[in-house]
Amino acid sequence: MSAILPPAERLWWKHPLDRVEGTWIVIALVWCLIMFAMMVGWHIYGKQNLSTETYKTTPELFTQKAQAVVDKYTIRTETDAKIPVVAPPAGSDVYLVARLWNFWPIIEFEKGKTYRLHLTSVDYNHGFSLQPANINIQIVPGYEHVVTVTPNQSGTYSVVCNEYCGINHHTMVGRIYVK
Ligand code: CUA
Repeated sequence: MSAILPPAERLWWKHPLDRVEGTWIVIALVWCLIMFAMMVGWHIYGKQNLSTETYKTTPELFTQKAQAVVDKYTIRTETDAKIPVVAPPAGSDVYLVARLWNFWPIIEFEKGKTYRLHLTSVDYNHGFSLQPANINIQIVPGYEHVVTVTPNQSGTYSVVCNEYCGINHHTMVGRIYVK
């Protein structure tokens, strides 16, 4: 018997099931079920699994809302590109637009205050990785992800895109300040 030759009995599902093979199938199935239950467990007890709300949106609608916040709460601009830095009041809705290849605007939060951070992409799939907080989610175009955040540590946080999105993916970064 050699693997080069075609099997004599071609209908593999009609072969008798070996005891060892059956045992492994049962072990794999049980492990799948344990892992499935742990997905729920991680969500409840894990510190990095966010409970995001997700809504449908359009680039126009989202950009409009982001622009309204920028118009109202911009306190300064940064870099030569004059990126607005918005400092919205505690409890308010803040919008972050991901697009090729930047995050807009820069946001300034106040430590210990709660905000609703809305995220979307207006073009392709991007990522929202908050460093060094180790928060990590995907930003999917057409969907508005809402994360309720209460920053507990002041500092300068980097927002990094971690979904490959083209030639300048590596330059797609943003910033969040916590005062
Ligand atoms: Cu956006 Cu990579």
